[in-house]
Amino acid sequence: MAISSRCPDNIVLIGFMGSGKSTVGRLLARESGRYFLDADILIESQQGRAIPDIFEEEGEEYFRALERESAEWMAACVRGTVISTGGGMPTVTERLGDIGKVVYLEIAFEKILERIDAAQRRKRPLFSDIESAKALYERRRKIYESRADMRVDASAPAVRVVEEILKRIS
Ligand code: S3P
Repeated sequence: MAISSRCPDNIVLIGFMGSGKSTVGRLLARESGRYFLDADILIESQQGRAIPDIFEEEGEEYFRALERESAEWMAACVRGTVISTGGGMPTVTERLGDIGKVVYLEIAFEKILERIDAAQRRKRPLFSDIESAKALYERRRKIYESRADMRVDASAPAVRVVEEILKRIS
């Protein structure tokens, strides 16, 4: 679909690492006439370094502050866009609703492990150890649920997830 000049509301995708936020986000953007923005890439481009390097050189708290800052910026400046957030963004800001409609991509941890290989885990500092990632997943679930306007089953193929969101969003 062509980009809409009527500037529709943003759609904010939240969910655990490996839930498919970027894949679904790109497709959803194309199908709904919006641009796509990956909040992790936004931070990397502003910092001029990759997320694992930010974690290693500055620590997690520094990264969380950058995430909070980017959420403020998106709430103020971004329109007509599908945004995929980093898995921890809902834990650092209560303002996701000010950015747009918040959609939680819900998926079982076992399914994430089937999707995400060792190389992809290395790009994610908080996924280097599977046991602690599972514990983090359990702690985060309630937070995702509490921030979401809508929950969708993200274990389905991306096209189906997008169809479901489009059906329920309008
Ligand atoms: C994180 C998720 C990552 C990235 C960073 C921290 C988290 O994003 O922001 O490694 O705390 O869950 P993805 O969810 O896109 O992997």
